[in-house]
Amino acid sequence: MSNPGRLIIIAGLPGTGKSTLAKKLALRFQATIYSPDDWMDALGVNLWDNAVRDAVERLQWQQAQDILRLGGTAIIEWGTWARSERDILRIGARALGSAAELHFLDAEPAVLYARMSARGRENPPITLDQLQAYSAAIERPTAEELAFYDAPSEPLS
Ligand SMILES: Nc1ncnc2c1ncn2[C@@H]1O[C@H](COP(=O)(O)OP(=O)(O)OP(=O)(O)O)[C@@H](O)[C@H]1O
Ligand SMILES: [Mg+2]
Repeated sequence: MSNPGRLIIIAGLPGTGKSTLAKKLALRFQATIYSPDDWMDALGVNLWDNAVRDAVERLQWQQAQDILRLGGTAIIEWGTWARSERDILRIGARALGSAAELHFLDAEPAVLYARMSARGRENPPITLDQLQAYSAAIERPTAEELAFYDAPSEPLS
């Protein structure tokens, strides 16, 4: 395929720096970023509303696949805690002949709690207990999973 497109998945717990990395990679690849939080904020929807989050993610995945069909780069930063969610995205990208990268960001719950508290975006604020539970729940990629992906691109700065 002459113009194969590139899917970049950025996964990790809240506050791990997904959006920060997404912005840098978007500059490098002239990519479109898909973050449910941005659309939910723009729509005036509470970030804890998981039904809306699921609907927004479905719309974003449709658009991201359109970008890949056009040979562009789409960056998905949804958290994607489950291997099964990441598999669906990767297999979809490969079906379109696209490259697929996975960037998994990680940090200790206490570090994330300090960052999230300083940012103050969630209402009610996220708690340290929640972050500890999330950290226990997230499915960190194994070497076997990572082997299905292309090497992750470095941001330029
Ligand atoms: N590597 C890092 N070291 C220290 N602070 C960082 C790092 N990356 C991002 N931050 C800071 O942590 C906060 C969260 O970063 P960012 O918004 O990129 O994370 P996120 O994973 O997108 O979070 P969320 O899941 O809530 O959207 C920001 O205030 C950001 O400036
Ligand atoms: Mg973010």
